[in-house]
Amino acid sequence: CQDGLKICCIGAGYVGGPTMSVIALKCPEITVNIVDISEPRIAAWNSDNLPIYEPGLDKVVKACRGRNLFFTTQVDQCIKEADIIFVAVNTPTKKVGIGAGRAADLTYWELAARRIAQVAETPKIVVEKSTVPIKTAEAISAVLHGAGKTQFSVLSNPEFLAEGTAIEDLDAPDRVLIGSTLCEEGSKASQTLADVYAHWVPREKILQTNVWSSELSKLVANSFLAQRVSSINAVSAICEASGADVDEVARAVGMDTRIGPKFMKASVGFGGSCFQKDILNLVYLCESMGLPEVAHYFHQVVQMNDLQKERFVSRIIHGLFNTITGKKIALLGFAFKKDTGDTRESAAIEICRRFIEEKAQIAIYDPKVEEEQIWSDLTGACQMDKIEVQKYVTLCPDAITACDNAHAMAVVTEWDEFKDINYNKVFEKMIKPSFVFDGRNVLDHELLRKIGFIVYAIGKPLDPKLSTA
Ligand code: NAD
Ligand code: UDX
Repeated sequence: CQDGLKICCIGAGYVGGPTMSVIALKCPEITVNIVDISEPRIAAWNSDNLPIYEPGLDKVVKACRGRNLFFTTQVDQCIKEADIIFVAVNTPTKKVGIGAGRAADLTYWELAARRIAQVAETPKIVVEKSTVPIKTAEAISAVLHGAGKTQFSVLSNPEFLAEGTAIEDLDAPDRVLIGSTLCEEGSKASQTLADVYAHWVPREKILQTNVWSSELSKLVANSFLAQRVSSINAVSAICEASGADVDEVARAVGMDTRIGPKFMKASVGFGGSCFQKDILNLVYLCESMGLPEVAHYFHQVVQMNDLQKERFVSRIIHGLFNTITGKKIALLGFAFKKDTGDTRESAAIEICRRFIEEKAQIAIYDPKVEEEQIWSDLTGACQMDKIEVQKYVTLCPDAITACDNAHAMAVVTEWDEFKDINYNKVFEKMIKPSFVFDGRNVLDHELLRKIGFIVYAIGKPLDPKLSTA
């Protein structure tokens, strides 16, 4: 029993919010305070309109908020009271300085650690929840102990949830990984954290390792997952060139139990805040450890992903008779995957940037992404102000409006609702010949062709009516 145990989580984002809400749900006797420096974010967590969209999250938050789950900007107070402090702040790719474009930017992490060191008065277990480079625990430990005020045990406890299924993943994780130093105090801290998870996770799924293995496992897991997506996307290019069908190949290959069927869906390219960042982080680590060939091996995964986005754009340009200037393209979906409003590294951003470069007109519809987020992503990617971007882009309230008078429709996110659109109606509204570019292979291509569309689908035999020259 962990009656009276207090947890503080620094960072109320996509990881901190859902993870801590589930801990609060499963451990009613533990008090969980989630703190953030962003007042609007905390206000949103305390409102009916949570700052992130995640299926099932509302219900969990409503069950615990005000009972044993609290969202606050009182960072110092919560640090002081806590026995365990999770740090789930963002660790983006560095934009400037040594390692720019590859290494992880640990500024937010270090600031959080310095805050903990400054205000903590009693011994704390500090948990790395953010994804960090190997050996970060060592650096953080040095920062924490620098103040010399109290004892800290630093644990690595990477998070494996995927957005869109975060609550499911947290409820029944494949595994929980806890890395600690091998000394007695490290093992004790690891055990305390394992006991928290053991409230609902079977003990055999809680792996306790050394801290370096834990930190490295997170980067490797994401690199392997992304590598699978890039592999199937590479295969999709071979399929288009040869007349094979990528879904048939994925099925045949995935039935080998050593390979397995998951994560084999060809797409317009992976997005999300983690894959690219974590691979680049691993690439940078390999380079710094004098392993350039290993770095090159993993870097190919990102390069293949860039190629896949560009292949999609080229298919559209060639399909539309080698020019999209002034032509209207309806873009269905802007989030990096379905069931999330998150757009970080979404393929849609790069695709739109390329369309704008070609001076096309883009009509975007996404069921969950906030309008301001789209403007912010596109102004950033195109290095233009909003007024300039608005010369090329309009945001639409639904798919049918987006397709009105469009030359082509491109599916970029696999939202379920796109399968149920009345495509007869869409066809009537579009300019002829009407093109569909399915970047997620979610539509009924047979039906679309019967209606009269010229259809391109990733990794599928090419429509004879589609120009590829
Ligand atoms: P996020 O940007 O959504 O949230 C981070 C939050 O930390 C922000 O609200 C920010 O205001 C806050 N913050 C930053 N510095 C702070 C400080 N010093 N004090 C208090 N608050 C501070 O990021 P995220 O997506 O939740 O990711 C967090 C970490 O988890 C990253 O390292 C990421 O790689 C990792 N991760 C993310 C996912 C995912 O699906 N998003 C999955 C697994 C792991
Ligand atoms: C990923 C990891 O899955 C998760 O374990 C980690 O904690 C965070 O990073 P996330 O980025 O939220 O999670 O989503 P994920 O489902 O992994 O998808 C990432 C990207 O790959 C999405 O753009 C998705 O559409 C794409 N993808 C995934 C494919 O294109 N094909 C697939 O078969 C699977």
